[in-house]
Amino acid sequence: MARGKPGLGLAGTAGLPMTIGVSLDRLRRNAAGCTDCELYRNATQTVFGAGPASSWLMLIGEQPGDQEDRQGAPFVGPAGRILDTALQRAGIDREEVYVTNAVKHFRFEADGKRRLHKTPTVGHVRACRQWLDGELDAVAPAVLATLGATAAKALLGSGFAITKERGTPREWEGRQLVPTVHPSSILRGPPEARAEALDALVADLTVVASLRP
Ligand code: URA
Repeated sequence: MARGKPGLGLAGTAGLPMTIGVSLDRLRRNAAGCTDCELYRNATQTVFGAGPASSWLMLIGEQPGDQEDRQGAPFVGPAGRILDTALQRAGIDREEVYVTNAVKHFRFEADGKRRLHKTPTVGHVRACRQWLDGELDAVAPAVLATLGATAAKALLGSGFAITKERGTPREWEGRQLVPTVHPSSILRGPPEARAEALDALVADLTVVASLRP
């Protein structure tokens, strides 16, 4: 049950965030008005998670990109297309997955008409954590996969090293968690390395698929 007004980043009466015990629809509505950090000022909209309300799997990215900010949905731009390909090759239907981000507003730097991605700070991740906690509580996925360092560090702490630990499941708060790379890292790498990098992401997501209850 909700304890007070979500979105203020305050603890509820039982010391729980006020986003715990709240339906996804209500979380989405409340997050739409979130002003808990400054990112809402320049972003078009809050990009909340999307997918079935009780999926076995939650994928957690970093933050919406340019396309996601315009369309209001996670992973619908170039990184989303890589993710869709990798999921399909790993035997996971995107329609069965709840997809979200650690930070729900687009952080960018304007360069003329272009909006260049800027990595969110620990403060942004912290300010947004209440929404991710609410999503985890509402969806209650058996399996999590973090995409990239920001999401992994949000859940596993700043000491997490993605190159060493990717693709290996671990228990996290009663769920299985598999860290892997961010799909956009494949696009950022040299063209000749892309096929191999995509294969490695597919291999990690195949591990995720093997954990399906
Ligand atoms: N990158 C992310 O981390 N999330 C998105 O939704 C899109 C790009």
